[in-house]
Amino acid sequence: MNNALNQLQPYPFEKLRALLGGVQPAADKRPIALSIGEPKHASPAFVAQALTDNLDKMSVYPTTLGVPALREAIGQWCERRFSVPAGWIDPARHVLPVNGTREALFAFTQTVVQRSDDGLVISPNPFYQIYEGAALLAGAKPHYLPCLDDNGFNPDFDAVSAETWQHCQILFLCSPGNPTGALIPLDNLKKLIALADQYDFVIAADECYSELYFDEQSPPPGLLTACAELGRSDFKRCVVFHSLSKRSNLPGLRSGFVAGDAEILKAFLLYRTYHGCAMPVQTQLASVAAWNDEAHVRANRDLYREKFDAVLDILAPVMDVQRPDGSFYLWPKVEGDDAEFCRALFETQHVTVVPGSYLSRDVDGLNPGAGRVRLALVAPLAECVEAAQRIRAFIQSR
Ligand SMILES: Cc1ncc(COP(=O)(O)O)c(C=O)c1O
Repeated sequence: MNNALNQLQPYPFEKLRALLGGVQPAADKRPIALSIGEPKHASPAFVAQALTDNLDKMSVYPTTLGVPALREAIGQWCERRFSVPAGWIDPARHVLPVNGTREALFAFTQTVVQRSDDGLVISPNPFYQIYEGAALLAGAKPHYLPCLDDNGFNPDFDAVSAETWQHCQILFLCSPGNPTGALIPLDNLKKLIALADQYDFVIAADECYSELYFDEQSPPPGLLTACAELGRSDFKRCVVFHSLSKRSNLPGLRSGFVAGDAEILKAFLLYRTYHGCAMPVQTQLASVAAWNDEAHVRANRDLYREKFDAVLDILAPVMDVQRPDGSFYLWPKVEGDDAEFCRALFETQHVTVVPGSYLSRDVDGLNPGAGRVRLALVAPLAECVEAAQRIRAFIQSR
């Protein structure tokens, strides 16, 4: 057996199951889960139609590179969405389809990490656990940067030592973040690009929540926006990860892309060819339809906006909770131990939320998720409102 497997941490949901395992929840209340970040809004019918219209493509092997129509649709979407000058993104070299960002983040790490005794993969803390597992299985050491309230829930990149940057091979960014919902400001992205040049590391920007934001007039910038503003038309050392899962409520389609540095993507394509993870052609063609449409994405944002408004109205008077910059998560502070809060909430109110400490690592005695919980506002409005009312009643009863 690969002994690196022993280094993998239990997944947060495994820990949550263990926490809630023996607990008897209030039988008179229907269960409401705000725990799993699985979109629940309806998938767009026109995407399902495009998928069924192309089912005959099951008879062909897909290529890892994907069909030109998909790479072109993605390239154009990136240019439109992130204000990249027209023609900068060459669909043949700067774009690769992936089966969702999860597998891509993992596989990308295997491609980029050069095994050594002191190679670091730097990630935010709390973080999406794939970054850590991918680093460990690639033979690198995870290095965690705390995301705390006093820095807008972003890592304090200025506090990272030169020695740490010297050993960095990949810097993972997550913007808007899971679970914090924090956006990394454009100026910070530009500074990080300068650091990547200085210390020769790759920036892997997980932007799978980029389309879930509140102000229709100001879509959040991403790493490609920073490249565009810097005139960095080769996207050197920069790769972004995007997905239809959250943007288009298609978590089961398994469709996303990576875009950026052509040299890195060439190596990634080689890795993927051996890994054997080409996206089925019918999925690619359905994805073209999804990337070419924004109306369903705006409608999706409207639904989340309505839920955030309603839930924050109920919770803000009784807990320290802020509207995030983006994503579908709330990341409130709770009194006392976060795991105990979740356990007691489940027992008395039959509402499931995730302890913040399960999404973060202890570093030097500090767990940045301790004393917080993650609420995913994915359930329908009425259910989110009922959950918020129960959480409020729970807090008031303590
Ligand atoms: C931060 C983050 N990145 C990546 C993913 C993976 O999403 P997908 O593989 O559906 O694109 C998730 C899913 O919850 C996530 O929260």
